Amino acid sequence: MSHLDTLFGLSGQCAIVTGASSGLGRDAARALAKGGADLGLVARRADRLEELAKEIRDEFGVRACAAPADITDSAELERAFDRVEGELGPLDILLGAAGIAELGRAERHKREKWDRVVAVNLTAAFESSQLMGRRLIDQGRPGSIIHISSVVGSRGNPIHRAIGYTVTKGGLDNLVRQLAIEWASHGIRVNAIAPSYFPTEMTVDPEIGDVRSDQKARMETFTPMARLGREGELETAVLFLAAPGSSYVTGAVVPVDGGWTAW
Ligand SMILES: NC(=O)c1ccc[n+]([C@@H]2O[C@H](COP(=O)([O-])OP(=O)(O)OC[C@H]3O[C@@H](n4cnc5c(N)ncnc54)[C@H](OP(=O)(O)O)[C@@H]3O)[C@@H](O)[C@H]2O)c1
Repeated sequence: MSHLDTLFGLSGQCAIVTGASSGLGRDAARALAKGGADLGLVARRADRLEELAKEIRDEFGVRACAAPADITDSAELERAFDRVEGELGPLDILLGAAGIAELGRAERHKREKWDRVVAVNLTAAFESSQLMGRRLIDQGRPGSIIHISSVVGSRGNPIHRAIGYTVTKGGLDNLVRQLAIEWASHGIRVNAIAPSYFPTEMTVDPEIGDVRSDQKARMETFTPMARLGREGELETAVLFLAAPGSSYVTGAVVPVDGGWTAW
């Protein structure tokens, strides 16, 4: 085994990934599989998850299964955890990437939009962390929890008016910090990754198959590297935070943002 494998290798570990049916969650799942982890994939679109599970098994030779669930339904979420654990064995890593954004000016932002965003981005992130943490504590095993936050977790968003989104990402950063403190003595590390803009279903206009050019120009203006993130550019952060060699890293929010937060 090479020194890099000792530091970053995830072989023999089992990860559950929420939001694995598209975008950054899909990329993160592939990164963990490349590191050697077995994968349980969670989101609502079962066909996408089955497709990715097959792709991961064929490409990386690890075990992978789909566990479709609406993570805002506590019972469904718990069933998804049970299913993955039943199929793959005890869980070591939770990667929480499920998230939604609802646009609208703050003064007109409808309560239903607010509730939807809080339910996915914050409450489900808490409940999935809790399901993971409780299992690890009961089993007396260490583990790693990683959530995908955002650069707007630590500041306002100058491009999109999405008050619920910004507030939930701020909450998520502090969820991570609080859990890191509470669970450090159990060997459970809790961290987040804070990306700036990446082209995904969340940001791409389906009619043109790209981020709208006026928005892209504004995103680039706020990014010292003057470009959006690219597929694969989250991988090293995911592997770093999941890696056994990062045993002293907890409560961190790691930016992957082309310098967005450096201003
Ligand atoms: N793209 C960016 O520029 C950017 C920047 C910073 C942070 N982020 C964050 O990165 C994460 C991933 O976003 P993305 O850009 O990859 O967006 P995306 O492509 O729209 O992916 C969102 C994922 O969340 C899942 N999801 C949404 N609601 C769900 C629910 N109720 N139950 C289960 N799964 C649900 C979706 O799956 P189903 O629809 O199949 O359920 C999908 O897999 C989010 O937390 C987002 O806030 C994105």
